[in-house]
Amino acid sequence: MTPKAAGAVATYVLDCEESMGRTFDIGLDALNGSLRPKAEPALLADQDLSRRGTFFLETFGCQMNEHDSEKVAGVLLARGYQQVETPDAASVIFYNTCSIREKAAQKVFSRLGEFREKQHEGKIIGVLGCVAQQEGEDIFKRAPWVSLVCGSASYRKLPELLAQLESGNHRVTGLDTDTDETFETEVTRRDHPWRAYLTIIEGCDKACSYCVVPYTRGPERSRASEAILREVRQVADAGYTEVQLLGQTVNSYADPTVRKMKFSELLLAVADVPGIRRVRFTTSHPRDFTQDIVDAIDAEPKVCEHVHLPVQSGSSRVLREMQRTYTRAGYLEKIAMIRAAKRAIAITTDIIVGFPGETDADFDQTLSLLDEVQYDGIFSFKYSPRPNTPAMSMPDAIPEEEKSRRLAMLQERQREIQIAHNKSQIGKTFEVLVSGKSRREGQWSGYTSSHKVMNFTSQAAELLGTYVQVKATDATPNSLQGEHVA
Ligand code: 5AD
Ligand code: SF4
Repeated sequence: MTPKAAGAVATYVLDCEESMGRTFDIGLDALNGSLRPKAEPALLADQDLSRRGTFFLETFGCQMNEHDSEKVAGVLLARGYQQVETPDAASVIFYNTCSIREKAAQKVFSRLGEFREKQHEGKIIGVLGCVAQQEGEDIFKRAPWVSLVCGSASYRKLPELLAQLESGNHRVTGLDTDTDETFETEVTRRDHPWRAYLTIIEGCDKACSYCVVPYTRGPERSRASEAILREVRQVADAGYTEVQLLGQTVNSYADPTVRKMKFSELLLAVADVPGIRRVRFTTSHPRDFTQDIVDAIDAEPKVCEHVHLPVQSGSSRVLREMQRTYTRAGYLEKIAMIRAAKRAIAITTDIIVGFPGETDADFDQTLSLLDEVQYDGIFSFKYSPRPNTPAMSMPDAIPEEEKSRRLAMLQERQREIQIAHNKSQIGKTFEVLVSGKSRREGQWSGYTSSHKVMNFTSQAAELLGTYVQVKATDATPNSLQGEHVA
């Protein structure tokens, strides 16, 4: 999972079930064409609405949250709600929240504060996601105008919770995390026209000492491989050519069915689905990153040559305190394994600075790790103490200014690495999936298979959603510039 971190050096915005329970029975027709990539989103203008049966959904945080929101929207659309662009136009307002760092959680409460007066307008205000799970019913105390609180492990209950509100209940909650179910929807509303996100594993069983995710998203639950492949076939039929498999620790995937498909086998099986041209996956945990995953990337060009492998710190001592389950040397072995591949695999990471007790020497180790690994991109964060986590009560907190100083140093070091690396790509030709068109005539953007942002010029009339060959002609720390060559 990689949040779109403000201030991070971010080349990458990384940013059914047979065996595991029921599905929401959602028909394709109910979804307003939402699976058709090129369709405009089903949003209506404010004045067209009667203020009943409409929802507004705002998402904070990581790609997992964004994808959960697509699924929540799918559930609501299937119940006859219509999605609107503004809270004012909505009868139900949902915030899908993030609590990975304090700032993210604060943002949610300040957003809720903006809706204090709206309670008189008879709107349902719901808090979903990690803040919902973490704060639970306390949210009703802090923001009494909220009437629904539901964590991600309970999204299956959302239709039931909404029905309770519709039948006159004032406050409803879905806060269980002890479910062994994943949040399955037959069909989701997809917000990204060219890339389909698919959750393959939910929750997290790792116990990193700084992290709220195991508390907010519950234990690991993997989806049946057959259900995943069925969804891939669906999205391919709907015209998507790129899929991104999601999980907090995506490579810890453990097929719960008798098929017992390994993660690397799943990558190959997804790539094999007719119509699929690119398979991405994020986020990988170093402990479960094995040779067969590298072999799958080498064996199948459709599996994108990019691995997001969060290290968090370059110091083995800090890694131990973080309970990351590997040492610096162990992590570097994984990097060596990836570097030994036949394809040049891009590597990105997450780093936390200012973990309690992090000394200058520890931090130097993180800087030297950047030099050693030569990451293609990093997401970097100041350590943020989170409720209920073991690190919360660790001594030797690092002062805020020192955290900021270290973050700036880290980002500067990485900037130099990225500019040098990106400049070395000038002259090479990349296949780009075109996903953006600039207002400026003839300017386009997209991603290379290694997930580099490519801005390029082309005189072609329409390129969105197509794959084109682009020759890199210039580079910045965060992107390549190029020209369309075929
Ligand atoms: N403080 C700062 N960063 C954190 N992350 C997770 N928890 C915290 C925290 N308490 C970062 C990690 C993780 C990324 C998604 O967010 O780097 O990989
Ligand atoms: Fe949090 Fe660690 Fe799980 Fe990642 S692996 S979600 S950092 S507990």
